[in-house]
Amino acid sequence: MAGEVVRLLVTDPEGAYLDLTAGAGGHLKALSTNLKSSARLYGFDRDPVAVERTTRELQSFEQTLQLVASSYVDVLDEMVSFEDQLFDGILLDLGLSSIQLDDPERGFAFRLDGPLDMRFDRSSDNMTAADLVNNSTLEELTYYFRTYGEERQAPRMARLIVTERQKKMIRTTSDLVDIISAHVPPPYRTKTLVRLFQSLRIAVNHELEMLENVLPKLISILKGGGRIAVLTYHSLEDRIVKQFFVRESQNCICSSELPACVCNHLASLARITKRPLVPTSEEIASNPRARSAKLRVAERVAT
Ligand SMILES: C[S@@+](CC[C@H](N)C(=O)[O-])C[C@H]1O[C@@H](n2cnc3c(N)ncnc32)[C@H](O)[C@@H]1O
Repeated sequence: MAGEVVRLLVTDPEGAYLDLTAGAGGHLKALSTNLKSSARLYGFDRDPVAVERTTRELQSFEQTLQLVASSYVDVLDEMVSFEDQLFDGILLDLGLSSIQLDDPERGFAFRLDGPLDMRFDRSSDNMTAADLVNNSTLEELTYYFRTYGEERQAPRMARLIVTERQKKMIRTTSDLVDIISAHVPPPYRTKTLVRLFQSLRIAVNHELEMLENVLPKLISILKGGGRIAVLTYHSLEDRIVKQFFVRESQNCICSSELPACVCNHLASLARITKRPLVPTSEEIASNPRARSAKLRVAERVAT
């Protein structure tokens, strides 16, 4: 949905734009071709391998481009060295890139055999998905599968893992796939694996907490009339963005039971998309992985 992102995000072709999930640089390229040479582009990605490759590949931009290998939650600290301290447009394209998904060494794909890693930043000493499945309690695994995977059989899947890991450590994607496949019949197997792998990835990378943490920070670095665009890929992420945009576009967020406002909350955003935009059938045909994408955009109310 790069065309829609550019159309809705760019309000000043000579402005400053921040892509907080730069990945392979697809959106940065689309922005670059639609901006004047005096515009400035900045990017973040938590995956240092992606930042290194994208920095190399995007050297021919007419505009200034600065990429940082860091989580977007640290944006306020990391941007102190930027020439711009306020932005005309900020983009979050959540989830993982095709490059990450297609690399067996990253452990994101249940169809590819590899270490059960799933960390966006492999240079960190954060827990891997293997650490989680081998060391989490039954209750923790149930919580991950139910909350992050919306898996109806979460307690059963968690019990299976706890039983099987006592016989043999679960080290690879195939170890986990074999356990699930032995107990879930083919008609349900793929969807179960999608949900379990998604929940482990979200838990390993603290994805929902990070999203909730970063959104309020972005308001403080948007120019009046500047925009935030967020592309989400599942309902948990989309709900967080939707609720944030709705709350921040209201002048009072008090309970409706109170007779008068006590919160003094003032709207900081105006929603540009009341309903999320979704890919066209042509886009889905050319990129099936985009089928669950939802785009929400909001604009900073001028202060
Ligand atoms: C869907 S991809 C982005 C693709 C990119 N928009 C493009 O056009 O190539 C998501 C990217 O977000 C990165 N990411 C995930 N969590 C992050 C975080 N907390 N901070 C920064 N980047 C993150 C991932 O490493 C991945 O490269």
